[in-house]
Amino acid sequence: MAILPIIETPDARLKQISAPVETVTDAHRTLIADMFETMYDAPGIGLAAIQVGVAERILVIDLQREADDTPEDADPDKIVRVKEPRVFINPEIIWESDELSVYQEGCLSVPEMYADVQRPAEIQVKWLDEQGKAHDEKLDGLLATCLQHEMDHLNGVLFIDHLSKLKRDMLLKKLEKLRRSGRAA
Ligand code: NI
Repeated sequence: MAILPIIETPDARLKQISAPVETVTDAHRTLIADMFETMYDAPGIGLAAIQVGVAERILVIDLQREADDTPEDADPDKIVRVKEPRVFINPEIIWESDELSVYQEGCLSVPEMYADVQRPAEIQVKWLDEQGKAHDEKLDGLLATCLQHEMDHLNGVLFIDHLSKLKRDMLLKKLEKLRRSGRAA
């Protein structure tokens, strides 16, 4: 496995439309393993293949939720996180709720910037896993939001594209300043 370099905005590759995977191969499974390693190292909870320069419709997600027995006053460094790696190949939303939910989103391609984004609260999605097996499930909560964020990447859309131009320009300016100060790569 390998940690891959993550592409950051304003790299033009992030605007690309990713192509569907026709057959899931061992090369895809190696890429997926590398994507998980890259995501955990960053750290992040989701990563699209295009963020490591591969324009194919492949996503990895792991919300790494806290273990159920975590005390409320737990030391943040000692919290045990439950690993639940999920792979989505060629994901398609076939239904979405009218009800919306708002989460503060961030993105490894827009480092250290966060903003509230509103999306359908519940979605029904079909996709293939890394064995090429088809799935069809209703998802909600953070997983639904995270998946919609990652699926946007497959269509060349970043979470900041959901914001007003004013807010987006403000975040991009902040990111530029951060990079100049040497705190972001
Ligand atoms: Ni992202």
